[in-house]
Amino acid sequence: MPSDQASELRQLMEATESAPTRRSALASKDRRAARVLAVTSGKGGVGKTNLAVNLSARLAQMNRRVLLIDADLGLANADVLCGIGGGVNLAHVVSGRCSLDEATIKAPGGFHLIRGASGLAQMAALNEFERGRLLRMIDRLVQNYDLILLDTGAGIGPNVLGFCAAADDVLVVTTPEPTAVTDAYGLIKSLVRTDEATRVNLLVNMARDPHEARGVHQRIGAVCRRFLGLSIHDAGYVLYDPKVPQAIRYRKLLTLQEPDSPAGACLTRLAHRIDREATDQRGHSFFRRMASWLAG
Ligand SMILES: Nc1ncnc2c1ncn2[C@@H]1O[C@H](COP(=O)(O)OP(=O)(O)OP(=O)(O)O)[C@@H](O)[C@H]1O
Ligand SMILES: [Mg+2]
Repeated sequence: MPSDQASELRQLMEATESAPTRRSALASKDRRAARVLAVTSGKGGVGKTNLAVNLSARLAQMNRRVLLIDADLGLANADVLCGIGGGVNLAHVVSGRCSLDEATIKAPGGFHLIRGASGLAQMAALNEFERGRLLRMIDRLVQNYDLILLDTGAGIGPNVLGFCAAADDVLVVTTPEPTAVTDAYGLIKSLVRTDEATRVNLLVNMARDPHEARGVHQRIGAVCRRFLGLSIHDAGYVLYDPKVPQAIRYRKLLTLQEPDSPAGACLTRLAHRIDREATDQRGHSFFRRMASWLAG
């Protein structure tokens, strides 16, 4: 293993004493339409979809026009978390059988959802042309919403990196587990290589307490600064809460059913933070960012 990489990993595993970053979770850019936020992770199963649907529902309750696109191409399940049965999805849009508008359904809490397709190899392996066409279609929707969330798959495949490069902000989700932390750093490295202008916000999910979350933020923040010259934004944490799997089992959304539970309260705080940033600040159009990624 090259010594640089060895020291990156060593530093990720060690506690650091640097002060927690106080920068805003989702920093500014001038924009005229919906802000696009990609929710992503290096390791799978860290809680992206649960976060994306609960944030969407909470923001919709706050009278924001929110669209959640299940962009986990191939293994989509946001509709299952929302307790919504099958129907048209992104695969129908990509194959030209319906428009994005026609694939948009109303979800609990009042947000709009575009389902992803599950178990379709051709969706998981979209080529650059198909991905570009899909991104252009999404760009046409930005005038209709205040916020568009993209729930991506895990890892550093071209679909994930493409959606992240096109978004105004990327919310990287990790848990405190060393494997998730290492993969989060690997993903951030790939994001920055794909588009050095990407703004990375880090959220620690399933934290035991705020102290544990702070330690993870400090470790990843320090390694990103040192080895990538990148300052990442602290998007906070969501506590580990047995109410989360319980709500999923009953196909209910925690932020609607139990907003005062430990995780529900964290998600509500994050929703308010995103709302403040999304309404205060306006960024580059989704399409312009996407076009520069396709050209690069
Ligand atoms: N804060 C939390 N506390 C307890 N359990 C949680 C929390 N967040 C998520 N989980 C659990 O983690 C599991 C994975 O969540 P989720 O499906 O949202 O992850 P994901 O990152 O979208 O996974 P994938 O990479 O497969 O798309 C769920 O079963 C959920 O119950
Ligand atoms: Mg998911």
